[in-house]
Amino acid sequence: MSWYPVALPRLDGRTYLVTGANAGLGFFTSARLAGQGAHVVLSGRNPERLAAAVAALRERLPEASVDTLVVDTSSLASVGAAAAEVQAFDRLDGLVLNAGMVHTPRAREESVDGNELVLATNHLGHFAFVGQVLPVLERSDAARIVWLGSLSSRLSGFGIDDLQLERRYDAWTAYAHSKIATQSTGFELARRLGAAGSPVASIVAHPGYSISGRTPRVPGVSDPSTGERFVDHLQSPFTQGKHRGAEPVLVAATSPDALNGDYWGPVGWTKGAPARQVPTRTSTDAAVAARLWQLSEQWAGVSVPVGGARG
Ligand SMILES: NC(=O)c1ccc[n+]([C@@H]2O[C@H](COP(=O)([O-])OP(=O)(O)OC[C@H]3O[C@@H](n4cnc5c(N)ncnc54)[C@H](OP(=O)(O)O)[C@@H]3O)[C@@H](O)[C@H]2O)c1
Repeated sequence: MSWYPVALPRLDGRTYLVTGANAGLGFFTSARLAGQGAHVVLSGRNPERLAAAVAALRERLPEASVDTLVVDTSSLASVGAAAAEVQAFDRLDGLVLNAGMVHTPRAREESVDGNELVLATNHLGHFAFVGQVLPVLERSDAARIVWLGSLSSRLSGFGIDDLQLERRYDAWTAYAHSKIATQSTGFELARRLGAAGSPVASIVAHPGYSISGRTPRVPGVSDPSTGERFVDHLQSPFTQGKHRGAEPVLVAATSPDALNGDYWGPVGWTKGAPARQVPTRTSTDAAVAARLWQLSEQWAGVSVPVGGARG
């Protein structure tokens, strides 16, 4: 019997925000949350792609309650403008930090703010967003922040002294570093939230190895060519579709089984049913996290006010 889809709780009356929601894992995450009755804010950098995703979601779920929020996570100004909108929300019960550059540039590039582009997009933008919307999450009862980690965290070191990759850049290291930074920050935030007695949980989840060619066709959102499907199916022993890869993220965002500081991913590492997993030592190293946090505050230009809303 297939494990997919996992049973999720009803989410009526709850609001979730998903970054990078117009494609891939973010789209399927948003669709499942809406299917459970949540109000879902689909966030993305491009209004046309967001509109296409909303249309596709409504095609599947005509009664879905959805909204959109434009944010380019590589730009601190865009993140700040979006955060200002979120600060006016009545409530926010879950923030899924999914947006990411997966196909990273071959040569080092910089964001509009002068940070290495992959670090800026995958890590610093989300760090800045959390810093500015955490008080909204802390007003809700038992809200969650879910960070998208990656198996690449098991396959790369973490050069904390050259996170901007100014000395030596390669596309793979840029991606792996951005994901290790994401995981480290997710776990550090969990420690800080726990210590502050905050009602918010910070949870890291990864989708294994989830690829487009094994994903159901969604016109306007996910429509790989026959050739891509053929090639991707050759990898089927160790891959899954993005709809399945979203399930550990959804467990982290909604399930009573998922707790502050947890790490969730597919039971078979690259594929399979969601299971609680053990992250790498680097991801949970408090000294590494403290240094990273300090650098992130400096580069993102924000601090993260843990426990601030509780007085
Ligand atoms: N797929 C996997 O096997 C895998 C494994 C480990 C971790 N992950 C993580 O899962 C997340 C989603 O991956 P995916 O496979 O679903 O990738 P995807 O299909 O390429 O989707 C990426 C999403 O992020 C958005 N995005 C990219 N740059 C952005 C920016 N500057 N501002 C706002 N949004 C931006 C994209 O928007 P546009 O359409 O505008 O580009 C898109 O919506 C990523 O964080 C990735 O690192 C994926």
